Amino acid sequence: MLEKIRETVAFIESKITITPEVGIILGTGLGGLVRDIKNQQLLEYKTIPNFPLSTVDGHSGRLIFGELGGKKVVAMQGRFHYYEGYDMKQVTFPVRVLNFLGIKYLFVSNASGGVNPNFEIGDLMIINDHINLIPNPLIGPNIAELGSRFPDMSDAYDKRFIALAKEVAKKNSIMVQEGCYVGTTGPTFETPKEYQYFRIIGGDAVGMSTTPEVIVARHMKLPVFAISIITDLGVLGKIKIVTHEEVQEIGKQAEKKMTLIMEEMLKGL
Ligand code: HPA
Repeated sequence: MLEKIRETVAFIESKITITPEVGIILGTGLGGLVRDIKNQQLLEYKTIPNFPLSTVDGHSGRLIFGELGGKKVVAMQGRFHYYEGYDMKQVTFPVRVLNFLGIKYLFVSNASGGVNPNFEIGDLMIINDHINLIPNPLIGPNIAELGSRFPDMSDAYDKRFIALAKEVAKKNSIMVQEGCYVGTTGPTFETPKEYQYFRIIGGDAVGMSTTPEVIVARHMKLPVFAISIITDLGVLGKIKIVTHEEVQEIGKQAEKKMTLIMEEMLKGL
């Protein structure tokens, strides 16, 4: 694993002249953030040794290096999901690579289904905790160079980032929710009872990504900020049929607000 990471990092460093300070994982329908990245240097996933290939529509699969909010960043356009058939080491491999490229912070975005009855479609939710129901990516021999055997998860989502995001949102009159993200394998959306179950166990939203990347980032002690667009509601009486296309469309609509928050946060770091 370490050798693979180093090989991939050496390849990327031979192609790219930017040393990124912040890594950004762009979720479903949120790829538009890349339009604001200046002085871009691109690498297609398919050209990067050891990188998995993304298979879902709407994820084009490339690393975008550049500047955003005055910071050097690397954005992942396209991420890997467990439901695609990758194992958890593959799903999280890019995060390990980004860490070895030198990022100091990881920003993550995703789309999710709201289970908190106070949420509406199109809301943004700052993630302040998670419940991971996807196999843990750290199962297997621990690699001490990456982190400890039993990593702490008590502050998986950095409180300074949560405070900063709320401050930015307030200043720009953007309403934000805050809550717990439940990570599930997918690829099915939930049954009504499954949504109800996720609410009962403490979730505010449910989605098919993010928790693996956050676990691996925290293993490496990388501070994390994560934000979710509520693209549908798993709330009794408000449940309707969701399609992947609808999730992407709602994601697009909320993109402006999300982009603004991310950029202003970067400026404030
Ligand atoms: N459930 C799981 N994943 C999702 C959902 C959902 O309702 N919406 C967007 N991603």
